[in-house]
Amino acid sequence: MKKATMILDKDFQIGDIDKRIYGNFIEHLGRAVYGGIYEPGHPTADQYGFRRDVIDMVKKLNVPVVRYPGGNFVSGFNWEDSIGPRDQRPNRLDLAWFTTETNEVGLHEFAAWAKEAQTEVMYAVNLGTRGPDAARNVVEYCNHPSGTYYSDLRIKNGAVDPLNIKLWCLGNEMDGPWQMGMKTAYEYGRTANEAAKLMKWVDKDIELVACGSSGRAMPSYGAWEYEVLNECYDNVDYLSLHRYYGNPEGDTKQFLARSMDMDAFIKEVVSICDAVGAKKRNAKKIHLSFDEWNVWYHSNQQDAELHKSDRWGRALPLLEDVYNFEDALLVGAMLITLMRNADRVKIACMAQLVNVIAPIMTRTGGGVWAQTIFYPLMQASAFGRGVSLQPVIQSPTYACKDFDQVPVMDAAAALQDDGSLTLFCVNRDLEEDVQLSVNLRAFDGLQIQEHSVLHHADVNAVNTEAAPDTVVPVAGDLGELDGGKLTITLPALSWNVIRLTKR
Ligand code: AHR
Repeated sequence: MKKATMILDKDFQIGDIDKRIYGNFIEHLGRAVYGGIYEPGHPTADQYGFRRDVIDMVKKLNVPVVRYPGGNFVSGFNWEDSIGPRDQRPNRLDLAWFTTETNEVGLHEFAAWAKEAQTEVMYAVNLGTRGPDAARNVVEYCNHPSGTYYSDLRIKNGAVDPLNIKLWCLGNEMDGPWQMGMKTAYEYGRTANEAAKLMKWVDKDIELVACGSSGRAMPSYGAWEYEVLNECYDNVDYLSLHRYYGNPEGDTKQFLARSMDMDAFIKEVVSICDAVGAKKRNAKKIHLSFDEWNVWYHSNQQDAELHKSDRWGRALPLLEDVYNFEDALLVGAMLITLMRNADRVKIACMAQLVNVIAPIMTRTGGGVWAQTIFYPLMQASAFGRGVSLQPVIQSPTYACKDFDQVPVMDAAAALQDDGSLTLFCVNRDLEEDVQLSVNLRAFDGLQIQEHSVLHHADVNAVNTEAAPDTVVPVAGDLGELDGGKLTITLPALSWNVIRLTKR
């Protein structure tokens, strides 16, 4: 058995955990909306056509915010297509995913769904084919009380009260050649600044996310962040990061180390934000919105074939990754990384929520089930609240292709208002358990409430509609808490949630 130690102290604080780091994302893509959250005629459909069984699963995940309506989709989207009588809404070619968008679900319907799902909308505006004018109009439509063209149009369309959307994305991945209306950093920075100015003039209480690079591997990465912020620093609040990982080579050790790349990415972007702030002698801090993160690779081949055979189809089964056990471990490690950067990462959206690279899967006309990655996200959102503590960790390490020293055991800790403490630990070792000793010298009166373990003997094990409980958390060994020292065993290849509550 390997051994690791950790020191936790109430005074070693990283920062308050913003609950929005457990956010998610729904794009008009594949079966996320049509056949996912929305399926009139489904036995569980409500009066609007939303699947109640899906809403119940979303509520279990406890999702504080959902980014919408894209993604790449938003860069060609006319928000006006999605309001007014449904039978008069246009069908449009979606050039992001080469499908047809019917606009059957639009702004009002999604706002109603979000209310049902007990979440907030994070709405993206189109800065690809459109610009500041459309952006300020949609803010007026959503948030202005009444007495103007767009606010009165909203009222005419059935929403007397403002939709009150307070978090907005200024476009999506505007550095990507795949993006409709791709821009240089200067072009985007200027557009984002003007859009931000107008949007905040319409509603001074909104918060805005500017697009960072679409990925750390982009050739313009770094320079993009700097130049964009140089143009819009005063008018935006957050900068976005996007990152997906895959394991096509089947190298589990390397794959599980990817959260270290995520950590480095966050630290680099923080440095760039602060460099721009320093250059401008501006005390304001730009925080981060990691608004697309996940594992994404299982469905790539299938999608390439689907695109060849069915161009302009509707609700195609695109990006339907079936997640295995090792994916859940990496997702857990990524959640640990987000918590440990709680001082600067204030928003994060797993991409995405239903069917499309998602923790929740549905069969059109059939059931709903939780993929493996559902569980770490659910547990982090439930218990990873309060203050993120800085754990001082000593762990054995291993080397793999891209990293020399990967800690076998990685962890985050959240101290909640009621004095309870939750540890989130991943054991990356393929064969050996880790005996973890936690020095809790500054905590009195705690008891071990629960040790939940996610483990499977097969890294490729998946959950399906027929066998939804193949990879689920189970009760683990409770360990011992004695004189301020917790000793507990973390099984080989496992995600662990250890809850210590006040006696
Ligand atoms: O989440 C899927 C896609 O990934 C999004 O539309 C895009 O922003 C990213 O490239």
